[in-house]
Amino acid sequence: MKLILLGPPGAGKGTQAAFICQKYGIPQISTGDMLRAAVKAGTPLGLQAKAVMDSGALVSDDIIIGLVKERIVQPDCANGFLFDGFPRTIPQAEAMKDAGVKLDYVLEIDVPFDAIIERMSGRRSHPASGRTYHITFNPPKVAGQDDVTGEPLVQRDDDREETVRKRLEVYSQQTRPLVDYYSGWAAREPAAAPKYRAIEGTGTVEQITERALAALGS
Ligand code: AP5
Ligand code: ZN
Repeated sequence: MKLILLGPPGAGKGTQAAFICQKYGIPQISTGDMLRAAVKAGTPLGLQAKAVMDSGALVSDDIIIGLVKERIVQPDCANGFLFDGFPRTIPQAEAMKDAGVKLDYVLEIDVPFDAIIERMSGRRSHPASGRTYHITFNPPKVAGQDDVTGEPLVQRDDDREETVRKRLEVYSQQTRPLVDYYSGWAAREPAAAPKYRAIEGTGTVEQITERALAALGS
């Protein structure tokens, strides 16, 4: 199974990715998590990416495409993978097509922008695993601690309200065009196109997981 989770910042891509990846036994490839790991490790890429991410803008297509191409040839991707937060621009999508990546599904999670600010302000994450919580909507078992490791949870630097607004603007301008790109692919090239499915991303985490798995035919 090879699929893309598409949706605005805060749509719940990371939250739902965990369930879908477990169900299909595939790795989650989150370019955001990869960049945050590079920032934490202080690599040259991380140093370059940090300022861009904190501003809410996108890291350059060349860097991202290079990272993903290296990642998808790793042995754990033999049965497929889930892209979370990638592709985010038309050139990134075209690069996957040119590389011969044959996708099964594109799953869009749709959430109105006004619900997103509230989700981001309460988000807490476990950086090592990418597990994501919300202090009200999806709390950890013990406040401030990851459910599995007990390690401390952190707030992302780019979850400040003004950065979230900028990220939503960048989504509308640079990423939203992918909705037409992927949903229109079947009309252009029926044999090569992934199945396009869109689900409503408001409701409880469990309700959305049910919708997602149903949309993927399981
Ligand atoms: P990235 O890490 O990809 O961030 P994003 O797309 O902005 O998405 P988020 O991680 O913010 O949201 P999510 O949809 O995963 O939601 P989550 O499940 O956490 O990218 C960060 C930055 O890296 C970018 O701005 C860019 O600079 C750079 N970057 C990354 N990829 C790139 C690329 N391909 N090209 C260029 N640059 C790139 O949920 C959000 C919150 O809501 C959580 O607290 C969660 O618990 C809560 N929640 C989830 N579901 C529900 C629900 N049903 N009800 C209530 N709350 C819920
Ligand atoms: Zn995420």
